Amino acid sequence: MQTGKCSIAIDGPAGAGKSSVARLLAKRLGFLHIDTGALYRALTLEVLRNSVKPTDAQEVAKIAEQANIEITPGSEGIRVLLNGEDVTKAIREPMVSENVSLVAQHPEVREYLLVLQRQLAADGGTVMDGRDIGTVVLPEADLKIFLTASAEERARRRMKELRAQGYKVTYKDVLLSIRARDNLDAERLVAPLRAATDAVPVDTTGKDVDTVVEEILGHLSTVGGLDGCSTEQ
Ligand code: CDP
Repeated sequence: MQTGKCSIAIDGPAGAGKSSVARLLAKRLGFLHIDTGALYRALTLEVLRNSVKPTDAQEVAKIAEQANIEITPGSEGIRVLLNGEDVTKAIREPMVSENVSLVAQHPEVREYLLVLQRQLAADGGTVMDGRDIGTVVLPEADLKIFLTASAEERARRRMKELRAQGYKVTYKDVLLSIRARDNLDAERLVAPLRAATDAVPVDTTGKDVDTVVEEILGHLSTVGGLDGCSTEQ
């Protein structure tokens, strides 16, 4: 166990800006950014590549046990490796987004990735983003943030990102896909998307990433700043 190193948990629905905010916040603090969605996405990619049905709990669990998923810091944010292959781009493909919440609902998958996520955060000095970080993965996090934005704004952001990557998507389809994922994530039985009771809600509607990061740094100082972090992770 490390002492005196902060861990910050950022949760929220699809497209609320978690990854961009977490990445910049980690950079500002000199912390490690751990994008837990990337782990679920990498596993989903492996499930699809093996032609396993995302709803088949047993087969998906087998894939989870066999797959070697790693995340490493890169020059443009984290890199994701699946069995040694760089899948950083591939895990953002719409096909993966369409199936990831089905894979993420299985208790076996969550248990497996819970262990991995806690190992990654064990040294502290981390900004971890996901859906259940403040509630399940790091319930002792020093600061918990729950990011929100209207579904319409989240769909607009995601549409812009996808179009910039060359995907021909319509606003309506992206909105429907985001809503479907939100429902699956919020309604699953194990570790659903939910704000921890001690999380600070931050609405990102109409705010850029810098503004949101400044707001979070403000919340960090109200819990005592970096010196105020708990002595044990
Ligand atoms: O970036 P985006 O908001 O599209 O989602 P993500 O963070 O990449 O997460 C993709 C999916 O993984 C989510 O929709 C959840 O189904 C699942 N996930 C989860 O169940 N628990 C987490 N801690 C992180 C992601």
